[in-house]
Amino acid sequence: MESKRSLDDYQLPPGKTAVVVGATTGIGAAVARKLSSVGCSRVIILGRNEERGMEVINRMKQLSKEKVQADFVKGDISYARGIKDAFDSIKSALSDVQVDYIVMCQNGPPTGTINLNEDGEGTGFTIQVISRFLLAYLFASHALISQGGKVMFITNPGLSYDGLDIDDLSLKKVAENGRSRVLLTVDQSERDSTVLDSVTLVSHLSLWDSMLQKVHYSYSTNDSLNISSTMFIQPHIPVQMLASADLGQGKFWDLKLKPKSPGKWASDRGNREKLWDKLLTMTGSR
Ligand SMILES: NC(=O)c1ccc[n+]([C@@H]2O[C@H](COP(=O)([O-])OP(=O)(O)OC[C@H]3O[C@@H](n4cnc5c(N)ncnc54)[C@H](OP(=O)(O)O)[C@@H]3O)[C@@H](O)[C@H]2O)c1
Repeated sequence: MESKRSLDDYQLPPGKTAVVVGATTGIGAAVARKLSSVGCSRVIILGRNEERGMEVINRMKQLSKEKVQADFVKGDISYARGIKDAFDSIKSALSDVQVDYIVMCQNGPPTGTINLNEDGEGTGFTIQVISRFLLAYLFASHALISQGGKVMFITNPGLSYDGLDIDDLSLKKVAENGRSRVLLTVDQSERDSTVLDSVTLVSHLSLWDSMLQKVHYSYSTNDSLNISSTMFIQPHIPVQMLASADLGQGKFWDLKLKPKSPGKWASDRGNREKLWDKLLTMTGSR
């Protein structure tokens, strides 16, 4: 792994295309700026706030000395229809050019509350988990990821919600049973990690098999729930991981780039298989 110093001098190979989801603020904005400053040719960022998005685009252009082709795509990925619309908008902005790097930074830490969307699922869960799954799935199934391309989930891997009920992924029943907000926050964090780790590990299905080479990196930004991740993450780290070819076969890393293992629930292949079917059904992807 290159040192921080060498990465600061690092330039990406020419002609690379990136999509950064959730890049109007925070980690996503920092990653988008960093990609531009290290020579990414084309970067599309997604979020809801156009004004903030355009500020990020302007800064990206400045940092690249006007070389990057940068575009803001507006989209709301808090419900399945919005995720599919966002994918269509990105696809159209790409004009069928394949993507080399997809970095997903949408949403923030869990809140211990559940607001239902039009699908009857929690909006936080949909942004944090369903949108990551569905966007990766759509990019892969439309052959829009280049050979050797990478999909990175900025999230917190390695936790396990051992009692996960695939018919209650939004934890509505858990909340109805009087779970306190504090405990529900912990449940949501463990649930998010469990589902996303399971999605990243599904490797026995034919479509995901071909995509798996691309879903290389899930990256933990922060193991602590109560501290803003943006205070800790250095945007050069995910960019360095995207650019690096020598990270081995691992799929999960912590903030210090120490490999992590998936938790107990996600390590069970039977669990992953049932969850995968459920996610395809929930999102109308069959
Ligand atoms: N598990 C943990 O312990 C933990 C802790 C902290 C952070 N993290 C991870 O780090 C990631 C980034 O954190 P951050 O601090 O950079 O967050 P942030 O500053 O709040 O940025 C979130 C980004 O997501 C976008 N977003 C939110 N809702 C959206 C929606 N409905 N549709 C489209 N875009 C939406 C926001 O853009 P708009 O507002 O413009 O839509 C913004 O660009 C999070 O995904 C989180 O998973 C994990």
